Amino acid sequence: MCGNQMEKTILLLLSIATSISSTPVMTRQSLQRQKTREHFCANLLNFNNFYYSLEEQKNVTGIPADMSIHWKTGKIYFTLISDEMKMSLQVLNPSGEFDLIKVAGLGQSTCVDNLNDIVYLATDNGVYKYKDDGSIELFTALGEDVMYIAVTSDGSAMYIATWPQNRVHKITNDGQKQETFTAIPNGHGLTVDPRNNMYFVATKTSYILKNGYTVPIKIKGLPSDKMTGVFVSRSDEVFAMDENSNLYSVDPENSSAKHLGTFSVSGVNSFAMDSADNVLIGVKGAILKFNAYEQSPCPEYENSSKKGKRHSRKRKNKKRTTSTTPEPAEEEEEE
Ligand SMILES: *[C@@H]1O[C@H](CO)[C@@H](O)[C@H](O)[C@H]1NC(C)=O
Ligand SMILES: *[C@@H]1O[C@H](CO)[C@@H](O)[C@H](O)[C@H]1NC(C)=O
Ligand SMILES: *[C@@H]1O[C@H](CO)[C@@H](O)[C@H](O)[C@H]1NC(C)=O
Repeated sequence: MCGNQMEKTILLLLSIATSISSTPVMTRQSLQRQKTREHFCANLLNFNNFYYSLEEQKNVTGIPADMSIHWKTGKIYFTLISDEMKMSLQVLNPSGEFDLIKVAGLGQSTCVDNLNDIVYLATDNGVYKYKDDGSIELFTALGEDVMYIAVTSDGSAMYIATWPQNRVHKITNDGQKQETFTAIPNGHGLTVDPRNNMYFVATKTSYILKNGYTVPIKIKGLPSDKMTGVFVSRSDEVFAMDENSNLYSVDPENSSAKHLGTFSVSGVNSFAMDSADNVLIGVKGAILKFNAYEQSPCPEYENSSKKGKRHSRKRKNKKRTTSTTPEPAEEEEEE
């Protein structure tokens, strides 16, 4: 397949070369192909040691919230909030098809234990396990209204945030209650890193409750009223994103964040990363997928287009994400 592709490319290049040197005629098709590639290359983003490009936009009716990804299958689990504020749990399959997850009560959110390949559902009647065949099985917290769940990366413990008690419990994977974290007001955006530091969002501010501490603190270096949440990547790095798609890396050691770059999408409600560090962004009406390339997929553009790259890139980005209103997001620091 690769060889074939190469042959075609060479033939295309040859035909372009001959058409330039002999006749000034370029076929419409090859011109179109070249334009598509130019557009793709001009819109490449470069930060966080990756080149990113918008690969896909999947439209949804409503707002996707609390995305989590099963790394092995690439399935994206999320809560869809309809225009009437009704919630449903959904799966976006790699095939591009959506599945509705049927739960007994009201589905609040989902959480994937990627070590043990288990999908958990938070419902108004407890925590359920979701099986591949679409069936569900009660796991724990029967009778409690569970809003959010987080699972440790070794799968040994689960943190569950319940309502209206507004507290977070830690339970072992055999269901034993271990600890209660009353300092966490609600579990919105509840996330746990491999060192058992906990993260959550309250009034759009991201906090960290470090392992062994009782008082959560605001993460430094993040805007104080625009945060969507924190995500722990497959390589155990902690990232945060704000409403304007600014991506930050979080260092739990000093509870500080560093701005990495922006995807130039506004109105971000949720973000996640798949096993290849591709970035999924949920906005009203769509889930956007930005592919992450370790090396530039446009090496020929690297040398020539450096000058003025930032500007042309931002302007062109406005056209790409039509369902949202991208804006040149500025880094916002709290003092
Ligand atoms: C936090 O630690 C990281 C890594 O050591 C460092 O790069 C960063 O400057 C520190 N941030 C603050 C605010 O001290
Ligand atoms: C761009 O620069 C790299 C490294 O300096 C070089 O290998 C490559 O051939 C250059 N590409 C073009 C199109 O000039
Ligand atoms: C998704 O929505 C955007 C605008 O909101 C529209 O331009 C685009 O065609 C839609 N895509 C599909 C596949 O329906």
